[in-house]
Amino acid sequence: MILIIYFLLPTISKAIQSYFVKYGEVKTLFKVMEALEAQLILIDDENKLITNSQFCFLQNRTLFAEGQTFQLPNYELDPFFENSDLLIDVFIQGNSEIYGLTINNRLFHANLKNKFTKLYDLNLTNDQNSIPQLIASSENLILASANNAYYLDFRNLENKGKIQNWQSRQIRYYSEIIDNYIFSAIGQDGLEIYFINQDYLSYRLDQQSIGLLAVDFRDFSIVKINGTNYFIYILCKINGVIIIELAIQNEKILSKLILKNIGSKTDGIALTMSFNEALFVAYKTKNQYYVIQFNIELISKKWGSVARFNISHKIVDIDVNDQYILVQGTHTHFLVYYLNKQDMIPFKLTSVQQFVLFDNYIYGTTSKNLFQFLPKIQPIQIKCFIDSDLKQIEQKYKLMYRTNQGWKQKEFKVNFNKKSFNISNNFIFFVLLLFLISILFFIAYRLYQNQREILTESQILEQKIRSLPQNRASKLLMPHTFRAVQPNAETRLHTNDFSDENTIVQKNKKIF
Ligand SMILES: *[C@@H]1O[C@H](CO)[C@@H](O)[C@H](O)[C@H]1NC(C)=O
Ligand SMILES: *[C@@H]1O[C@H](CO)[C@@H](O)[C@H](O)[C@H]1NC(C)=O
Ligand SMILES: *[C@@H]1O[C@H](CO)[C@@H](O)[C@H](O)[C@H]1NC(C)=O
Ligand SMILES: *[C@@H]1O[C@H](CO)[C@@H](O)[C@H](O)[C@H]1NC(C)=O
Repeated sequence: MILIIYFLLPTISKAIQSYFVKYGEVKTLFKVMEALEAQLILIDDENKLITNSQFCFLQNRTLFAEGQTFQLPNYELDPFFENSDLLIDVFIQGNSEIYGLTINNRLFHANLKNKFTKLYDLNLTNDQNSIPQLIASSENLILASANNAYYLDFRNLENKGKIQNWQSRQIRYYSEIIDNYIFSAIGQDGLEIYFINQDYLSYRLDQQSIGLLAVDFRDFSIVKINGTNYFIYILCKINGVIIIELAIQNEKILSKLILKNIGSKTDGIALTMSFNEALFVAYKTKNQYYVIQFNIELISKKWGSVARFNISHKIVDIDVNDQYILVQGTHTHFLVYYLNKQDMIPFKLTSVQQFVLFDNYIYGTTSKNLFQFLPKIQPIQIKCFIDSDLKQIEQKYKLMYRTNQGWKQKEFKVNFNKKSFNISNNFIFFVLLLFLISILFFIAYRLYQNQREILTESQILEQKIRSLPQNRASKLLMPHTFRAVQPNAETRLHTNDFSDENTIVQKNKKIF
């Protein structure tokens, strides 16, 4: 019986699955959770491809976002001014405060927990030549632009001022605060470092101090080694990615060039590092956009590229967490799940100015909204729809899909406009299984009953035996003893007979 089940089970579960779709409904047949990409084709009974109109289709994997947005409030006094204002940068403090900066120097603050929002006019004169970047230390928000910078006290925004020692530069690409220092990539002038707590005294790493013929620094990422030492990964438009070790002690900065010429020398757009110190660099080469993942061994001073992710749209910036690379484009952006080979999901969001990845949430700003969302994946789905109730047809489909373990396939049938009174395979399987199980139970029950009867009989017998006179009972209970005694009894009987016979003979014999 078990053998039957064993052989029946795979055949039944392999049997082709059927679905029923009525006119007028868009029916989702199933989802394919593990599929990264898929293809659905209509086939005939000989498994040949049919190009007839097919009524089922694939819905690609998409991203859906759960989150919240805060719209920049209207500017009551001057609607014209309002239309010209837009958010340009965003800063996240803790995991509940978002600050947005507008091009007209207004600060838009939103609290994610209690939904409180407020707009502050910073009363600063606009720098006509460059757009400021919003950065922050633990106490101050800093508006850093190429020529000047302002600080604002978080606790009291009216406590603000111009940073007097801020150096005017041709261009300032990207700035970041680590510990008590501001780092700024300033193109051909190199890298600038400010000491925040000492009147913003500055220090500059230029081509000479680094030991290169020329530099053009665009982006960087900093890894802290300990209290005084850092590794800085710099994207240079002349030398590819370079790595510098920095020691900051007693207001003195010592630098050492560790590695240079990593990756393409001149095509880099942006650079970022993951927590486990894998380096990701976005490039544009002859109208092709792509991201390269590098593995770098600082001790042996070796590097190698691990993976390449081709991106079909323009790349503006990249950021990374332990699951994906967030590729910011102009309208179409991508989540690239770099741990799975070639697994990426595009999503659309227009006029994104800035993305910030923090704690698996994506924060950022469009020109009119601050947002926070948690990206979730809607898996590939098979959907069917028939445009007429006149046709009663059955179609057979083959789904091929790629997973992390390679390509897989699945076949299924779809009945359009048919009543689903035909019993599904699953049901047959279920009934059969139930039947087999009940047979097994029946057999088991019978065996048990027989055993039970035998047991009762022997118990009754034993009871009877026990109620017999003692010596007879003991003999019956001990058959061997009984048998061993028997020959003696026979002999005795015989002897008796013999003696009787003798007696009879003696009786019947006429002696005289
Ligand atoms: C689904 O994605 C593939 C590429 O992955 C694309 O070629 C196809 O057009 C997409 N289909 C739809 C309906 O968006
Ligand atoms: C900007 O100026 C207005 C009016 O002069 C004042 O009410 C407001 O507090 C100032 N804002 C800041 C952040 O200093
Ligand atoms: C910090 O790290 C550097 C480089 O690894 C090392 O030379 C230095 O001694 C370390 N300093 C401290 C205080 O641990
Ligand atoms: C990315 O594009 C390059 C250049 O067209 C090509 O050689 C490479 O095979 C592509 N990589 C992937 C994974 O598609």
